[in-house]
Amino acid sequence: MNSYSPYSEIEEYCLIEGKTGMFYPGVRVENISFPLSISAIHSAICSCLANGDQPVSVYQEEPLSELTDYWKLEFEIEYRSKLPDSPSLFDPLLPADIDLLKTLEDLTENCVTPHSSFPVSALLETDNGYIPGVNVEVSAWSLGLCAERTAISRAITAGYADKLGRLHIYAPLGDFSSPCGACRQVMAEFIPRQQVVLHHGNQTTSKHFVKDLLPNGFTGSSLRKKK
Ligand code: THU
Repeated sequence: MNSYSPYSEIEEYCLIEGKTGMFYPGVRVENISFPLSISAIHSAICSCLANGDQPVSVYQEEPLSELTDYWKLEFEIEYRSKLPDSPSLFDPLLPADIDLLKTLEDLTENCVTPHSSFPVSALLETDNGYIPGVNVEVSAWSLGLCAERTAISRAITAGYADKLGRLHIYAPLGDFSSPCGACRQVMAEFIPRQQVVLHHGNQTTSKHFVKDLLPNGFTGSSLRKKK
């Protein structure tokens, strides 16, 4: 299990069954800024929605996440305590030779933006290919995930924590694609030495080191417990 829980030491994993029959894994993805942490069910449901699927049931052994009731009520999902024997697991990885811009454009079809109508897509490099993400909005605004965090939580879930590279971001309706403050903090946690490549609406790109996007950020290494 790839739960990233260095602060609480609460390991968490769940599977969301989608309407299509696909199972979406999710792990707990904590952040040094505790309120930015993503629970396992949050991560799995956003992964499911970001794939154009709808959650129908959740499989999770103890411990159950905080806010589980919210997710269950929001999507009327059923709780199952026993994991299926051989679920067909969603694998987000895209091959290394994809056309980046075209893939970023195509991904925007999957954005879930009932509140903003502002699509954003992301591709996170790994040593094996790319992990995609799109923004997902839900009824509780603060529980949606930006495209960057959908990609990062999928990558952590899939076991790429130590193999992450640059993060590409595309926001076609914005003049200048730029990650929000919360995403900068999450990038500082997982890809502190990497670059972010911003693909702007006018076909230009700009590249920025994460450390330059979050100068003097809260990294509090003394707070970090050993994994
Ligand atoms: N959004 C992203 O996905 N990434 C960013 O870097 C900026 C903002 C999303 C979040 C929300 O769905 C919408 O854009 C408006 O904030």
